[in-house]
Amino acid sequence: MSSSDFRCRVAVLGATGLVGRTMIKVLEERNFPVSDIVPLASSRSAGQVITFKGREFIIREPSKEAFEGVDIALFSAGAKASREWAQVAASEGAIVIDNSSAFRMDTDVPLVVPEVNPGDIFKGDGTPEPIIANPNCSTIQMVVVLKPLHDRFGLKRVVVSTYQSVTGKGKVGRDALESELAGEKQDEFTHFHQIAFNAVPQIDVFTDNGYTKEEMKMVNETRKIMGDDAISISPTTVRIPVYGGHGESLNIELERDFDIDELRELLRISPGIILQDDPSARIYPMPLTSYERDEVFVGRIRRDYWHPRTVNMWIVADNLRKGAATNAVQIAEVVAARW
Ligand SMILES: NC(=O)c1ccc[n+]([C@@H]2O[C@H](COP(=O)([O-])OP(=O)(O)OC[C@H]3O[C@@H](n4cnc5c(N)ncnc54)[C@H](OP(=O)(O)O)[C@@H]3O)[C@@H](O)[C@H]2O)c1
Repeated sequence: MSSSDFRCRVAVLGATGLVGRTMIKVLEERNFPVSDIVPLASSRSAGQVITFKGREFIIREPSKEAFEGVDIALFSAGAKASREWAQVAASEGAIVIDNSSAFRMDTDVPLVVPEVNPGDIFKGDGTPEPIIANPNCSTIQMVVVLKPLHDRFGLKRVVVSTYQSVTGKGKVGRDALESELAGEKQDEFTHFHQIAFNAVPQIDVFTDNGYTKEEMKMVNETRKIMGDDAISISPTTVRIPVYGGHGESLNIELERDFDIDELRELLRISPGIILQDDPSARIYPMPLTSYERDEVFVGRIRRDYWHPRTVNMWIVADNLRKGAATNAVQIAEVVAARW
């Protein structure tokens, strides 16, 4: 078969969710070589139909049979479903790319952002690992920016504050904001407090050290992806009532001093980054302008004059795309390129 004839059967577990729907859209937009889509979701959605390139596919519940003949399985149905179905799909021969937190910190599962560590996808013999984890959305956009800085200047410490979209919490997160804005009900459960007109400095539950699970994901996942346990990350994660993407304010202390123009140019030419940095023209990244885009947008780059070798910047990415679906499809592209 010539490489142009090559087509994969792709299962999407969580096909009706915010990430799963975006995965199907991104597969179509990027012209991933798909023969069939196998859309899977809960019993609530079984029997409904999704459309891919004008063809209709019926949504089923996951089962061993559903994964038969599947080449790539994109999972975005939460950690419980991933734990239940990842080994089943892998035993049927599928390469599983998992968006949940189920396997991210397992030592035998690579945690991959293609701009940073694409080589981790493959075993020593050159075949792909059976299960590959997609990092947390807040981690992905940060490491795309940290990687070139680490390679050129060495990373010492990062202080990061996030401004995260309600869509990061899936359909219930989006619906909570919409119903509050419509005055239908005040939902104090989904985001721990009312989210409309508010900012909540808690995402996920607190751990014993005073940081939330979301914050500790940013610490541990960053070290694993960058392959460097010496990097210090000090995060505060905040939910805000926006759609479109997550913003992050980064204060980055480097090992070696830098020229600010050289650093800006380095980011401009690095993969997956779009520089939007002209404050005099009010040009800087925002969730609204990053919405439906696949890149990480970087702006407000300025030296920290009160701390040596330290730079501040503001970054935004669409959490449903680069923070989840696009990153997973990019991993699939790296896998498929070797088939
Ligand atoms: N949202 C983000 O920005 C983001 C970013 C990175 C990673 N993730 C991760 O991606 C996953 C999905 O997130 P989301 O935002 O898309 O959530 P969502 O909008 O709530 O969608 C959840 C999806 O999972 C399906 N599902 C739930 N339980 C299932 C089960 N037992 N068996 C089969 N399917 C089941 C749902 O099907 P029904 O429609 O039938 O209920 C739906 O398709 C989560 O693990 C999340 O942590 C999300």
